[in-house]
Amino acid sequence: MSGAGAGEERLRDLAISKHDREASAFEEEYGSREASGHRSTAFLLGREKIDRLLADRLSDLPAGARVLDAGCGTGHQVADLVAAGYSAVGVEPAVEMRTRAGALNPGVEVVDGSITDLPFEDASFDAVIALEVLRYLPRSDNLAAYREMRRILRPGGLLFVTMVNRWAIDGYALWEAVASRRSITADGPTRAHCEFVTPGGARRDLLEHGFRDVETHGRLLLPLRWAYKVHLGLGRAAAAVLDPVDDLLSRVPGTAGLAGHLIVVARAGDQGAG
Ligand SMILES: C[S@@+](CC[C@H](N)C(=O)[O-])C[C@H]1O[C@@H](n2cnc3c(N)ncnc32)[C@H](O)[C@@H]1O
Repeated sequence: MSGAGAGEERLRDLAISKHDREASAFEEEYGSREASGHRSTAFLLGREKIDRLLADRLSDLPAGARVLDAGCGTGHQVADLVAAGYSAVGVEPAVEMRTRAGALNPGVEVVDGSITDLPFEDASFDAVIALEVLRYLPRSDNLAAYREMRRILRPGGLLFVTMVNRWAIDGYALWEAVASRRSITADGPTRAHCEFVTPGGARRDLLEHGFRDVETHGRLLLPLRWAYKVHLGLGRAAAAVLDPVDDLLSRVPGTAGLAGHLIVVARAGDQGAG
């Protein structure tokens, strides 16, 4: 394997091993959603914003529509999809995550696999979601994932994915650059990769991979995540005041590329990937 290939293989492994290690933390965090509320952690704050837009976009689908959660983690979104009346399927390569997803969703198909090589028939889903998955994979895998998601979607099917903005005003890219540089050992990187994109770049890539009607949305424009990092109490207090303001600001046209979360929604075109 070439040097670049070996490097990408390592990034793929890191994306999985990180989540095998952190599966119980994810489970706890989702588990505290009801009791503690969505402003209790930075993670839940971001997820609530993503979930609201997701529920809105899925609401066009009929009950029983087939929805794939690619990189479904602990399966909490799969459970939400089932509760909303969809026929949900999960695919997840990290065994610790997948085991939890299966236990949370008895009777639901939750299978091993990668978003870059999905184990499903062509045109077999009405929608595919991938929340906080593509960000851990190198660009070549993101492109392979677009091809695969397009392949398994029926024409007109819905794509809903999240990505990380290169130019988020909370400076996350700078933080990540320092952290990833510090994680490099003689054996290579030890920190999971973070793939930064821009709304324009994501739009171009999706159009080139057979999608149409690409929309980009920003969520978490204000640097609230830093307030949580400094102190949980500070984050909660800041979010109590600023979360509604953040929601309003995030809807200002042109700000999608500056927000912490980039959400991309698109439709599968009729012709397949170009
Ligand atoms: C941050 S977690 C998000 C999990 C879930 N989507 C959620 O929102 O709770 C990222 C997930 O992507 C999974 N993942 C890593 N590499 C993947 C790949 N090549 N294909 C699909 N999923 C992958 C990880 O194992 C992990 O479960």
